[in-house]
Amino acid sequence: MIIAPSLLAADFTRLGQEAGRAERAGADWLHLDIMDGQFVPNISFGPDVVKAVRPHAKQLFFDVHLMCGKPEILLEPFAQAGADQIIIHVELHQQVTPLIWKIKSLGKKVGLAINPPTSIAEVQPYLDQIDLLLVMTVNPGFGGQSFIHECLPKIQQAAAWRRDRQVGYRLAVDGGINDETAAECARAGADTFVAGTALFRPRNMGAAVRRMRQAAHDHDPSLADLKV
Ligand code: DX5
Ligand code: ZN
Repeated sequence: MIIAPSLLAADFTRLGQEAGRAERAGADWLHLDIMDGQFVPNISFGPDVVKAVRPHAKQLFFDVHLMCGKPEILLEPFAQAGADQIIIHVELHQQVTPLIWKIKSLGKKVGLAINPPTSIAEVQPYLDQIDLLLVMTVNPGFGGQSFIHECLPKIQQAAAWRRDRQVGYRLAVDGGINDETAAECARAGADTFVAGTALFRPRNMGAAVRRMRQAAHDHDPSLADLKV
């Protein structure tokens, strides 16, 4: 189970300390939401901010989620800024394959995200080329939205494909994730949990990370046989 706090919900006046707080809290990854005001109706931060934050959380895996209409111009800057993985959206259609190649050529892991209204069938051609599939469980653009339950069957389908085809991608969820919805997603097959509000807002982030990890673990279907 990977727990990935999203910096979008951090205190923007002190992003370095906030990243350090996530590291000390026992998080596995730091999720960085990049919004360009075009692909989504909001703007967040860019490569220079990620670069400035990187030394404050040296141990964390930097998971950069590009909600951008022209990711091709951002791949190198984010790779140089310290990204470990770069996630692009399947809604970019014919651009997806060259973007995957480019991310790999930069020596970074590749993630593919899918928005709530998009059919899960769209990701099928890429499943053997990616390290992570990110099922959006809100419409991207803003933190603090409510989890869309209609996305759960997509997680189940992606988990079934992974099992049947023996491909190795991580299955992540992003948007409206708290202990309760993390448990629901874990039961559906998710293993990677991105959460902004639920992890950055509590004063004790360490306890919040532990609770979410436990909630996900308790509902991991692969462990069901071992339970009495
Ligand atoms: C949504 C972003 C999410 C966001 C999640 O556009 O992709 O990563 O930070 O925030 P919460 O957990 O508050 O829904
Ligand atoms: Zn995100």
